[in-house]
Amino acid sequence: MKIIRTKEGMREWSRSCRAQGKTIGFVPTMGYLHQGHLSLVEEAARAADEVVISIYVNPTQFAPGEDLEVYPRSEEEDLRKAQEKGATVGFCPSSLYSEGYQTNVIVEELIKPLCGVSRPTHFIGVATVVTKLFNIVRPDTAIFGKKDYQQLAIIKRVVEDLDQGVTIVGMPIVREADGLAMSSRNAYLTEAERAQAVALSQVLDLVRRATKNGERASHVLRDMALTHFKKFPLLQPEYVEIRDRETFELVTEVHDRCFIALAAKLGTTRLIDNSELD
Ligand code: PAF
Repeated sequence: MKIIRTKEGMREWSRSCRAQGKTIGFVPTMGYLHQGHLSLVEEAARAADEVVISIYVNPTQFAPGEDLEVYPRSEEEDLRKAQEKGATVGFCPSSLYSEGYQTNVIVEELIKPLCGVSRPTHFIGVATVVTKLFNIVRPDTAIFGKKDYQQLAIIKRVVEDLDQGVTIVGMPIVREADGLAMSSRNAYLTEAERAQAVALSQVLDLVRRATKNGERASHVLRDMALTHFKKFPLLQPEYVEIRDRETFELVTEVHDRCFIALAAKLGTTRLIDNSELD
């Protein structure tokens, strides 16, 4: 596996790869890889001749007081795991922002609801760094997890709006045996919090089952979710919302192009989860 640490080196590799007629699959990450990330690498290996994984903890998507300083890091281990799943290049820049940087990518509406309420600058940082990474790596295809459902929708919007010409693929959420969606931030949970974190996927199961049984009213499904959360005293729900998958408008009646999204805090750790509703 080739390790590249500079933008210039990455550009050069990408140029020569394309000159040889090879396609590039790309998995952007912030490292501390789990099975969810590795499923993205596997998909990239199916989709393209070469697979680049980037490991970069992007400072602009963290607000002051968030977990930038303590974000877990395990680069060597990450590169080994990614290589096993088919990554051919690890792009690990020490910085992506030049002195005097002042240009951002702002997706006007999609950044506002859900996680955008408590993290108003987060998706500006994400859209900007992903655009920068696309400009450097120049991939044909980039793979993202559906666990960050809003992030995925925002990136698709950016690619469309800015004609980036990258095919975006969204992959299913990978879960622990008890249903908890895999996330690098699960490492922050204490034993007691970890035990209660199962509430998020339980709520999704409950709501999916209720819609299958014919319940369509969003407020009923939402109340059901909040009632279930009350059984978990360590858990503070932040939002439970049912929205249209394309427009992200709130819906009052569930239809077959909706998703339910959740965010909750367990101690100082903020977890998110979601499910498409059919
Ligand atoms: O999903 C993530 O890990 C990050 O938001 C991403 C897409 C790598 C941008 O920093």
